[in-house]
Amino acid sequence: MEDLNTALIHHPYVPPVGFNAPQAPVYKASTVIFESVAAMRQRDWKSKDGYTYGLHGTPTTFTLEAKLATLEGGKHCLLTPSGLASIACVNLALLGSGDEVLIPSNCYGPNLAMAQNELARYGITYQLYDPINPDDLALKLSGRTKLVWLEAAGSVTMEFPDLIALARVCRAAGVTTVLDNTWGAGLAFNAFEFDAGQGVDITIHALTKYPSGSANLLMGSVISKDDALFQKIRRCHMHFGWGVGANDVEAVLIGLHTLTLRYTAQDQAARTLAAYLQTQDVVAQVLHPALTGAIGHSAWKKICNDKAAGIFSVVFKPKFTQVQIDRFCESLKFFKLGYSWAGPISLVVPYHLEVMRPEWPAGVARGTLVRFCIGLESVMDLQQDLAQALQTLRANG
Ligand SMILES: Cc1ncc(COP(=O)(O)O)c(C=O)c1O
Repeated sequence: MEDLNTALIHHPYVPPVGFNAPQAPVYKASTVIFESVAAMRQRDWKSKDGYTYGLHGTPTTFTLEAKLATLEGGKHCLLTPSGLASIACVNLALLGSGDEVLIPSNCYGPNLAMAQNELARYGITYQLYDPINPDDLALKLSGRTKLVWLEAAGSVTMEFPDLIALARVCRAAGVTTVLDNTWGAGLAFNAFEFDAGQGVDITIHALTKYPSGSANLLMGSVISKDDALFQKIRRCHMHFGWGVGANDVEAVLIGLHTLTLRYTAQDQAARTLAAYLQTQDVVAQVLHPALTGAIGHSAWKKICNDKAAGIFSVVFKPKFTQVQIDRFCESLKFFKLGYSWAGPISLVVPYHLEVMRPEWPAGVARGTLVRFCIGLESVMDLQQDLAQALQTLRANG
């Protein structure tokens, strides 16, 4: 079988007769014209062998969905207006009043906020579980658990869970698993096959990050291999009207051409800078799953084939105040203050871990945490930028 990147580049988009250009065109439509009433009535919006209405798909959206399913090793894919909309789509498709969803304690924050503020209004409860302890997940499963969220690596604190063990716990209980695979981007590991041909049931991605790669759009995807599960998700997606813009779809299609190159470059640069920061006297701990001794390092090693996203966090020694760390972040020149990751510009965010988590995460040093997302600048420029800001921190500390 060919390499994944080759498969992605050569994915069989079929150009119209007489115009043999390989790049998929941007089709824009709400209305699609039918040739007869019979054709109109026969048309099944759920099948991809034709077109019904712009919201249900165009040749442009179908092409991106097919490519993303190939990349992820899945069968079905749907696009949504953002990564967070993908999380909502899965929750609303599979959960109802009286059901419970389990969420890892280090999840992407808005996933938890959705459960607390929105799912609660539909009579859906949630519990947090410790993603580093599969026994804790097993203990929290009940007859009401209908969905378990997984995330690898965890948000901000970057712990890598034992996905094999967590998925086995859920499979044994017959509970559906959904992985936020934005970090893995379909490249670090195969989400549907990490355990002897088995993996999670569903993945979601924030295409906003790596697939776009340019920090210029918002989009999400939901992917599965399971026909019945996916029908439920597709139905819900249709009922809520989650459409995406054709120009944004085109931008993601273009972004996919360089996905592997960018992921690899940002991974290498992040590891260089993480190693550099580990040697600095002001740093208490660097949080990156590829570092020996990192939380979940062995779980990362087992399935990730030495691949990681270009994102990590640093805990500064507790002698530095929040104000000093805030100034450190502001004194960086190339790292900009901003949310998101995987774009061309490196980003930095100081976090208040104590208000984000129910308790201070086990294995994470005490101090102020700063997250770094590595862009596509020269790694030497980024290192020099860190060095000058660290000097300022030391001088004021
Ligand atoms: C892990 C993860 N999942 C989902 C999202 C949501 O993506 P979006 O910003 O497209 O809603 C983000 C955004 O930061 C994220 O980091």
